[in-house]
Amino acid sequence: MLPDGSLADRVALITGGGTGLGRAMALELGRLGAKVAVVGRRREPLAETVAQLHGEGFAAPADVRDPDAVAAAFDETEAALGPVTTLVNNAAGNFLVRAQELSPNGWRAVVGIVLDGTFHCSRELGRRVIERGDGNAQIVNIVASYAWTGGPGTVHSAAAKAGVVNLTRTLAVEWAQHGIRVNAIAPGPVDTEETRERLWPTEEIRERLLRRIPLHRFGTEEDVAHACAYLVSDYAGYVTGDVLTIDGGAWLEQGMFV
Ligand code: COA
Repeated sequence: MLPDGSLADRVALITGGGTGLGRAMALELGRLGAKVAVVGRRREPLAETVAQLHGEGFAAPADVRDPDAVAAAFDETEAALGPVTTLVNNAAGNFLVRAQELSPNGWRAVVGIVLDGTFHCSRELGRRVIERGDGNAQIVNIVASYAWTGGPGTVHSAAAKAGVVNLTRTLAVEWAQHGIRVNAIAPGPVDTEETRERLWPTEEIRERLLRRIPLHRFGTEEDVAHACAYLVSDYAGYVTGDVLTIDGGAWLEQGMFV
């Protein structure tokens, strides 16, 4: 565990910070001393997260698909908390659907949130940090191992997250000279209210999934929040362009002989 105060000089903006993983990461970064702004479409969960934060916080309602709204959220955050040093691109949309039944609008909704949203927010952070010229900034993108294995039943999300993995590596190289580190986290099956509802709604699906996780448990929000804190901190000062997989070994489990 990182020492208290390790992130005291960070101002973090976390998209999708009102619920689930985003909220867990917001609370963990806040616990370690960061000032935290949460961005999302719905005001109420954002305000609830801010109320639970350890230190200073701010709620900036915005849809990450809208670049003007993203710029406004950065402006408001910076007026309230100071220059943003740290961005966590966590906002996502996902639902199980067969590709042939996915409407163009459904495709656009998910790719718009995951890929376009990550770009809009990253560009906003990058532009500001480069203009300030003071270095030491970090971006953490939340992806999933199906970005490289493929994800039957979630073609929209899998394709978008594959794009985000590439964006992570591209920006890591392009922006290293400006002191911006860019990494990603690929969580495996993390058990949250939303994933239970959307992705493993039945006991049968849950059991099937568990059998294929070598560590034989679902991930927790804390597993991911701790990894995020590490990547944002100076402990990861030489880490950029990487994807940290936190999935109990799930994506490596091919199970041919044992
Ligand atoms: N199955 C099939 N299609 C679906 C769907 C589902 N479960 N949920 C939404 N869609 C389709 C809609 O039908 C619509 O397409 P249509 O106009 O052709 O009918 C399209 O997706 C957009 O839906 P809408 O609800 O208008 O979009 P939105 O921008 O408000 O919502 C979503 C975005 C679809 C991603 C929504 O699920 C969402 O907001 N999710 C946020 C939380 C989340 O998904 N987190 C992931 C945790 S695992």
